Order: sequence, then structure tokens, then C-alpha cells
Amino acid sequence: MFNLESFGIKLNTDFIGRNFIYFEEIDSTNTYLLNQENKINISGTVVLAEFQTKGRGRMDRVWKSDSAQNLTFSILFVKNKSLLESLNFLNFSAALAVASSIENLYQLKPELKWPNDILINRKKTCGILIETVTTKNEIEKVVVGIGINVNQSQFTGEYNYPPTSIRIQLGKEVERERLLAEILNNFEHYINKLKTNKDNIINEWKMRCKMMGEKISVRLSNEIKYGIFDDIDENGFLLLRTKNGIEKITAGDLMAN
Ligand code: BTN
Repeated sequence: MFNLESFGIKLNTDFIGRNFIYFEEIDSTNTYLLNQENKINISGTVVLAEFQTKGRGRMDRVWKSDSAQNLTFSILFVKNKSLLESLNFLNFSAALAVASSIENLYQLKPELKWPNDILINRKKTCGILIETVTTKNEIEKVVVGIGINVNQSQFTGEYNYPPTSIRIQLGKEVERERLLAEILNNFEHYINKLKTNKDNIINEWKMRCKMMGEKISVRLSNEIKYGIFDDIDENGFLLLRTKNGIEKITAGDLMAN
């Protein structure tokens, strides 16, 4: 069971996680925060579930996570125009917060995979799903959903990318409460940085992305593109070097080669 008290002691933020909602079971923490009928409007609200019956991943995939072993949670952002307009940066900040927390706490070397997966030894340990509520063409809410394989020791069935967990990589169980608090602390730190220096976020993201310069394949909605991962542009889009020149990829899936 997730211990709210030991989490609370380690939380060091001004707003992220100060409103905290806990479920033993729910369909999806993202779906919960996106549902306007729940009337949750406090920026920084975190919803954590021990088990999701309909956990969702990017590209309409499912997110599978054993009960009470891992971290599946979502964070809400409202009424912050500049933040809501730079979704790619919010994405990158979330990925950096998770990666730096794993590195600081367990001395592992997480790698980032565009747009926002976190790998350890080239296997996936965390995925991020950002979704929005829009009215009259304006973004009203953003929900950042994060799923981290923490203490799960076995993965069965089909996965889109080879999975792993922190426990498998570290060889011992870790304290989820401490990890979550560290991630939220770091996330707030990166969001504050975002206000003044977006370039720093991109540069730090690039430093943690080992696939740059490598041959990659990118799955788009109706085709697969092959090329060299050239760079990330100033908006966070992937620049792919192909035989036709540099192509900008705004959304897609890098595949395991
Ligand atoms: C991906 O890699 O495809 C993204 C996975 C995101 C999973 C998290 S778990 C918490 C939140 N609730 C969901 O239904 N999905 C996200």
C-alpha cells in the first residue's frame, strides 16, 4: 500500500501534489482528471491509483501495470497560458524530472527516447501521456499522465517496446513514496526553469537522449520512415535526416532496432 504520510514528508513543492487524490482502483487517472464532471480545477492536483482497469498509453495503446507495484499517476495544469501553450516543453520537463530522479536516487543511467519515454539499458521503464481539454480552440486543461515500472519483477504478454523496471535494473526493491516525491519536486523545479529558459530544457533533454545521431525508424500513423536522428528543433520536434533531406516529425513512435 502506498503510504501517504511518508510521501507527504518528502514532498517539497509549492503547488504540485499539494492537492492529492488517491484511488486503490480506477479506470485511468488521466481519464479521471479529463472528466469535467469531476470539477477538479486546482493546478498541480495529483491523482494516484494503485491499479488502473483501463490504463491508457500513447497511440491508443493500453498501459499495463501490476497492482501496488508501480507508480501510475496524473498531474493537472489549468489557467496558465504560457505553460499550456508549450506542451512539448511540459513533456520534456516531465521526462527530465523522472530521469533525473531515478539517477539521483538509484545511480542508474536513464536515457530519454523521443518524445518522452524513459529507458534504462535500452528497455522502457516509464511512459508519459499528455492530454488536453480544449474549448473554442483554446487549451483549458492539460493532464500529464506518468506510468513508471518501479517494483514489478515480471512482464508477461505483448509490449510495444521491451519493458523493464527500476527493481529489475537495480536488483532491489525501491520506496515508491520517496520516488514520487522526488519526481514532483523535480518537476516543479523544471517548470519554474521553463518560464525563463526554454533552451536549457531542450539542451538537457538532448544530453540525456542517446539515440541522437543513430539510425532510427519512426512509425507514423500510416507509414514508417527511416533515417538518422539528426536533432531536436527549438519546438521539440524531431529532425530526421532522410535521403530526401531533413524532415520534421511532430508525432510518431521510435521503434526498437
Ligand atoms: C506511453 O508510453 O504510451 C504512455 C503511458 C502513460 C501511462 C500513464 S499511467 C497514469 C496515466 N493514466 C493513464 O491511463 N495513462 C497514464
